[in-house]
Amino acid sequence: MSDSSSIESVLHESRMFPPPADFAANAHVKSFEEYKRLYDEAAKDPEAFWAKQAEEIHWFKKWDTVLEWNEPFAKWFVGGELNISYNCLDRHLTTWRKNKAAIIWEGEPGEVRTLTYLQLHRQVSKFANVLKKLGVETGDRVALYMPLVPELAIAMLACARIGATHTVIFGGFSADAIRDRVNDGGCKVIVTADGGYRRGNEIKLKDIVDRAADQCPGVENVIVFRRTSSKVAWKHGRDHWWHELMETVVDDCAAEPLDSEHPLFILYTSGTTGKPKGILHTTGGYISQTAYSMKMVMDLKDEDIYWCTADIGWVTGHSYVVYGPLANGATVFMYEGAPNFPDFDRFWAMIDRHKINILYTAPTAIRAFIKWGEQYPAKHDLSSLRLLGTVGEPINPEAWMWYHEVIGKGRCPIIDTWWQTETGGIMISPFPGATPTVPGTATLPIPGIIVDVVTKSGDPVGPNEGGYLVIKHPWPSMLRTLWGDDERYKQTYWSDIPNCYFAGDGARRDENGYFWIMGRVDDVINVSGHRLGTAEVESALVSHEAVAEAAVVGRPDDLKGQAIAAFVTLEGGRKGNEELKEALRAHVAKEIGALAKPDDIRFTDALPKTRSGKIMRRLLRELATSGTVAGDVTTLEDLSVIEKLREDEE
Ligand code: WT7
Repeated sequence: MSDSSSIESVLHESRMFPPPADFAANAHVKSFEEYKRLYDEAAKDPEAFWAKQAEEIHWFKKWDTVLEWNEPFAKWFVGGELNISYNCLDRHLTTWRKNKAAIIWEGEPGEVRTLTYLQLHRQVSKFANVLKKLGVETGDRVALYMPLVPELAIAMLACARIGATHTVIFGGFSADAIRDRVNDGGCKVIVTADGGYRRGNEIKLKDIVDRAADQCPGVENVIVFRRTSSKVAWKHGRDHWWHELMETVVDDCAAEPLDSEHPLFILYTSGTTGKPKGILHTTGGYISQTAYSMKMVMDLKDEDIYWCTADIGWVTGHSYVVYGPLANGATVFMYEGAPNFPDFDRFWAMIDRHKINILYTAPTAIRAFIKWGEQYPAKHDLSSLRLLGTVGEPINPEAWMWYHEVIGKGRCPIIDTWWQTETGGIMISPFPGATPTVPGTATLPIPGIIVDVVTKSGDPVGPNEGGYLVIKHPWPSMLRTLWGDDERYKQTYWSDIPNCYFAGDGARRDENGYFWIMGRVDDVINVSGHRLGTAEVESALVSHEAVAEAAVVGRPDDLKGQAIAAFVTLEGGRKGNEELKEALRAHVAKEIGALAKPDDIRFTDALPKTRSGKIMRRLLRELATSGTVAGDVTTLEDLSVIEKLREDEE
């Protein structure tokens, strides 16, 4: 980790946008004073504040204690019993929402399906019975590797209904990545589909699962949803069609009362070592914070049709496609495929067609839209939109302004929401009817969340000074541990800065107290809003027979935020060429998934190292970014390495 004094903040931005008056008048939180009052009250007693939010949730049995905190282990709503599937479904069936659309889904080829709360409840109950029938019990783990179809949400809610812990694996991951996650999680069942559509092509998910499942001794059953009807291999006894199993069960399955700390899901994410971390989220605290933030940050109303474009394979999809919105009885729009299929206007056509009111997407998507051109949104009526959101990485002010003007027509507030897989829910974000926004900043923490920017020893830094973004008080939707590895949980999040959760991000606060996130300060890179550990990509490269050593760094990229640059040394005198570069890229795709393919590969005789043998990534980062090294090289063991790399550049 670099020293905080080296984190220089460079962005300066003075445009400020107060919430539009008509928006504020109808918002859940209507003024900055109201937000401030909520915030200050909650800061005095976060437990009391979150207990109040938890009362919006249905509990079979109320909790005895709001928070038990044995740093770094938290338990929220101790002694309480609830079921998230009950909260997302059953609860609405006794109200007028029974026949409200819960999910409106559009497949990439263009078909549309609508599921009301009643219909969704029925499907979830049946699939819960399917899982039970296959021997899945409370406490078991189930892996989900599916396209973005309603059945993915159905499978998640069915797991939650019976207390099985799900781990959703993003559909872009490779067979090896599935195998590692399924085995680490100890999953009994994998739910998948024959395939899914992406940019007009079929991704053959079942084939990929087959390659993984053969190396997963704990997997007893594979359930296959029929999406594309293409031919799949079949292992009798292990594989089952979703639709066939669904015919064998009744549609009645009571939601299991679960302990507030019952494990809801494990989601694997990248860290600074090669081994992915299984982030564990539990039940009562998770749903309390995601439901609250969904309502307040997205200013969600019953009439809204809401679209979060994230894949359900990431935490954004868990918290703000499935659990947060459904707990609020919202109408969620889901889209299966690519934004540029059949043409570059697909998103805008769907917003127009379905009259979408709230759009939550990622800066990398916005940058792609900018590149494709204004003519595409211009073809459609976007007047249904009333609120725009972003998540995943810092949004550059230019992209923010484009989003504001070209998509929002200057009418829609923008919420830039900062959070992480680990935080489970939104932590820093404007309240759209209350907080004046400034392009490029996520503004202020939501009520009940205590964050700060500090030095390495934990002392607060002054206005506009760079430092480490930390969370100073436990929050309900925080990760509870890393699956099966309490020690690594402690080490990773709670050991760098005294008495704080350290998030891995650098930040500064401006004179208004607004938080400007400056990106990761560790060896994690953010490619198109997806997190990748440089160590993961390095170990994938080194596992190729030609590679002796590899160092991977991020470099700025206009579209993706960061691109992956790899420096590679080869085994015993082998020579690098274009063919080998391609082979290495393909190898990384096989090991991790296409999203981790290096953009640049450079062969070198040696890597720059310190005398103690540590690779000097800072130099490589500089080299990958600017093509040269101007910084301090005094600790470098062998100066000629850099000279050599410099020459290669020229
Ligand atoms: C990392 C977390 C939270 C869901 C998506 C990503 C970066 C996220 C913002 C934002 C600046 C952001 C951070 C964070 N990040 N949102 N609004 N502004 N940076 O989840 O994969 O766990 O990644 O994404 O660097 O640490 P994730």
